Amino acid sequence: MLGEYELRCVNCGRTYEADPWTIVCPHCGGLLEPVFRRKPLGVSWALFRTRKFGVWRYRELLPKVRPVSMGEGGTPLIKVDERLWIKFEGSNPTGSFKDRGMTVAVSLAREAGVRSVICASTGNTSASVAAYASRAGMRSFVVLPRGKVARGKLAQAVLHGAVIIEVDGPFDAALDVVMRVSGRESGLYPLNSINPWRLEGQKTLAFEVVDEIGVPDWIVLPVGNAGNISAIWKGFREMKELGLIDRTPRLAGVQAEGASPIARAFKEGLNQPIFTDEPETVATAIRIGRPVNWPKAFRALRESGGTVEMVTDEEILEAQRALGRMGVGVEPASAASYAGYLKLLGREISDDDRVVLVATGHALKDPDAFPFPEPVRASSVDEAVEKIRRLAV
Ligand code: F0G
Repeated sequence: MLGEYELRCVNCGRTYEADPWTIVCPHCGGLLEPVFRRKPLGVSWALFRTRKFGVWRYRELLPKVRPVSMGEGGTPLIKVDERLWIKFEGSNPTGSFKDRGMTVAVSLAREAGVRSVICASTGNTSASVAAYASRAGMRSFVVLPRGKVARGKLAQAVLHGAVIIEVDGPFDAALDVVMRVSGRESGLYPLNSINPWRLEGQKTLAFEVVDEIGVPDWIVLPVGNAGNISAIWKGFREMKELGLIDRTPRLAGVQAEGASPIARAFKEGLNQPIFTDEPETVATAIRIGRPVNWPKAFRALRESGGTVEMVTDEEILEAQRALGRMGVGVEPASAASYAGYLKLLGREISDDDRVVLVATGHALKDPDAFPFPEPVRASSVDEAVEKIRRLAV
């Protein structure tokens, strides 16, 4: 099923036959990366453009499987001005970028005969897992940090029929649970971003950006478990290797101050994260203290000449409001992109750079993130008409 690929350990360099169940390196426990055995032939923008915009447009660069698909990817690239765009991942079927990865990993799981899937999640992964598992006729188990998952995301997990397990502790504890309980023996297939096939799907965001506007100078995105930054960099690296582009952008990761193991390490010039066991931020999606994909993320930052910025919760919420006033509704973690961009502008990012901000999740995911002002109340139609007339002058 995966003959065109092999899996290479990013830690020890050993390679393995690609198998959906081989999630980490059997030798050293390191992260695995799918690499093509042979350069995929005949790929070109002209070929891609004969197909509808979205993840599977780039199917030569993805596992050859029968897709479990709901039209993921193909999200709007909203132009803010001549040199700034927002890649609006809130337009995916379940409202976040996770669907790009889930369509690929769940398709593989289905072909491998998997009946039950499992994930740890700050919310969006669980919503996506629940939806795609249901679509594929599988059961789903989602392990969540108790009390720290936004309401919209929880509602989706319920709606799509996931079994919900809540643990005391942060996301990192939930992921420990998944790493212990998943595997061939239990039959529970893990769908966190440690699963390299999820990142294969997520790399298509890079393809879509180039497909629309060519290679930008910067991609700015929030970083939690550090899967997406790794995936997007893999996308750019592959396009360069295949001659589809002749240069790559720089990546800027953004973390919340209270959950910034990578940003802090980067500032201190360390080559591994400063883990924390008590991450805290209003941006619950990225409330993660021990990002598992850090080796891939550090490589992405190093190879792209990138950077990592840290933003406060106040800066995140202000950025969310600012985007809201532009008509763009994002959840707090996604607003971190814009907050980080504003901080980097005039420093690492210069005025004439072309920049794409990744807005990872929809505003409706987390309706409790912002205060609701008192509405204008009226007890009759006449009173409402009268009050509106006065306000409109
Ligand atoms: N933005 C949103 C809206 C997210 O939900 C996440 C991660 C990220 C950014 C960070 O992406 O982990 O690849 O660095 N959410 C995961 C989840 C952890 O469980 O939904 P990352």
